[in-house]
Amino acid sequence: MRQLRAERDALADKIVAGRPEGAERQHQLGKHTARERLDRLLDSGSFTEIEMFRRHQAHGMKADGTRPHTDGVIAGSGTIDGRRVCIYAQDFTIFGGSLGEAHAAKIHKTMDLALATGCPLIGLNDGGGARIQEGATALDGYGGIFRRNVQASGVIPQISVILGPCAGGAAYSPALSDFTFMVRDTAFMYLTGPDVVAAVTGERVSHDELGGADVHARQSGVATFVYDDELSCLDDVRYLVSMLPSNNLDPLPAAPSQGAMTDERPRLAEIVPHDPSKPYDMRSVITEIVDDGDFLELHELWARNIVCALARVDGEVVGVVGNQPAYLAGALDAAASQKAARFVRLCDAFSIPLVTLVDVPGFLPGTDQEYGGIIRHGAKLLYAYCEATVPRIQVIVRKAYGGAYIVMDSRSIGADISMAWPTNEIAVMGADAAVGIIFRKELAAAADPAGLRADFRTRYAEEFMHPYFAAERGLVDEIIDPAQTRSAIAAGLAMLRGKRKFPSQRKHGNVPL
Ligand code: HXC
Repeated sequence: MRQLRAERDALADKIVAGRPEGAERQHQLGKHTARERLDRLLDSGSFTEIEMFRRHQAHGMKADGTRPHTDGVIAGSGTIDGRRVCIYAQDFTIFGGSLGEAHAAKIHKTMDLALATGCPLIGLNDGGGARIQEGATALDGYGGIFRRNVQASGVIPQISVILGPCAGGAAYSPALSDFTFMVRDTAFMYLTGPDVVAAVTGERVSHDELGGADVHARQSGVATFVYDDELSCLDDVRYLVSMLPSNNLDPLPAAPSQGAMTDERPRLAEIVPHDPSKPYDMRSVITEIVDDGDFLELHELWARNIVCALARVDGEVVGVVGNQPAYLAGALDAAASQKAARFVRLCDAFSIPLVTLVDVPGFLPGTDQEYGGIIRHGAKLLYAYCEATVPRIQVIVRKAYGGAYIVMDSRSIGADISMAWPTNEIAVMGADAAVGIIFRKELAAAADPAGLRADFRTRYAEEFMHPYFAAERGLVDEIIDPAQTRSAIAAGLAMLRGKRKFPSQRKHGNVPL
């Protein structure tokens, strides 16, 4: 028995050591090996591997020549800050991390384990996509991954980390995940590579220009987070996991109270200019409101006119949605609506309370937006909020005009608590636009149009825009001193802690996807 064990251990050591030339190539490219990545990401010594000895049984053109153990993916489970996760890491040094039947079966098993045990699933992707020499079985393997991604959606958090190529259909698993991390220069994702693009369209484009990290972080919105190097990327995966529940039934990971209920932040009034047209950075407001000024922003570089972030208030995890007056004056457009809608649904699926910070001039006007389906995309955000059953707190920081006011979690669509700063302006539209419509004829005929405008603006402000107009009608619950925003949110969260979801009879709604 002792000899059998020694043989097993020797083989396992050989598998773990891998091919030195493969590791060297990874390092030359600024990448790490699959096992180094697991070591960095998981708590030390916590990884339990499954199916280490698995090898492919294929008889394709090349695959039957060598049959390396693991078949190019290291799978199993470990812990992050003591909490269990299931994980797989593609090993580029074996068949370029490509996915064959055995490789896929190991990923399937990892996903099944994650779902059965109710813990987050993390996939570290670094591979050439479907293993060409295994034909249709490789495609079948991908289908099994996608089906499991969808079955697990909203049940366990799914995190895809792209650390190398993620080509072809492989890109759909990250797209079905809740979060996609990418690393600059080494990670890329596309459905068809530069050669195919050149052959079909004549367009010449590099891997990076076609599907690099910045393309997906800034333009396509596929990447949720982007980093300059692998190690900071993996560190942030740990940070993200620290704020997520293990599954949709488990409680959120709690942190100690920070005495937020009595924490006044006078700087808030200085950050936000009184003039509604003056820009400022909503992230500075968030910094003042959340614990330690610390938050994890999703899609930081895409649809920058809205900010979506995970953070804690008084130890409790919250999802923060805020208009961003520093970009497009904080107007809602198609991309911002999609970004926020997906975030609201993520928070709702995992019982993360929502805090919505409103400073919005309206939806972005123009043919670009109308042709691009702003109505359809704006409806997604409306739908997401209307459906959300988590605690919902709205804070109107400055202005809230028109349909965008309604969409940004107004009381009318189900916010539990709405608060407004005394500077709030809630109206169908701003005073200048309003006078142009209501008094168009009078302005055209007036001897002193500027005087008429000024007079109207005063009346409009006195009658409709005074801070208590909405509060008198129950549209906001409380007018708060800006300095009290953090404490008022903490008190609101405490009040709403027992909020429960009542089961619905319908199969599902028809969200305007
Ligand atoms: C089998 C593959 C492979 C693949 C790479 N390799 N991709 N083997 N199937 N899909 C192998 C290479 O033959 C090579 O083996 C080793 O991995 C390293 O690859 P290199 O090309 O030397 O590395 P590099 O120059 O870094 O380029 C990496 C790459 C390139 C960009 C990923 O290999 C590539 O373009 N591969 C094909 C990508 C692709 O088109 N995949 C299919 C997508 S279709 P040796 O033995 O020489 O070391 C798809 C459909 C899924 O995925 C559908 C699901 C719905």
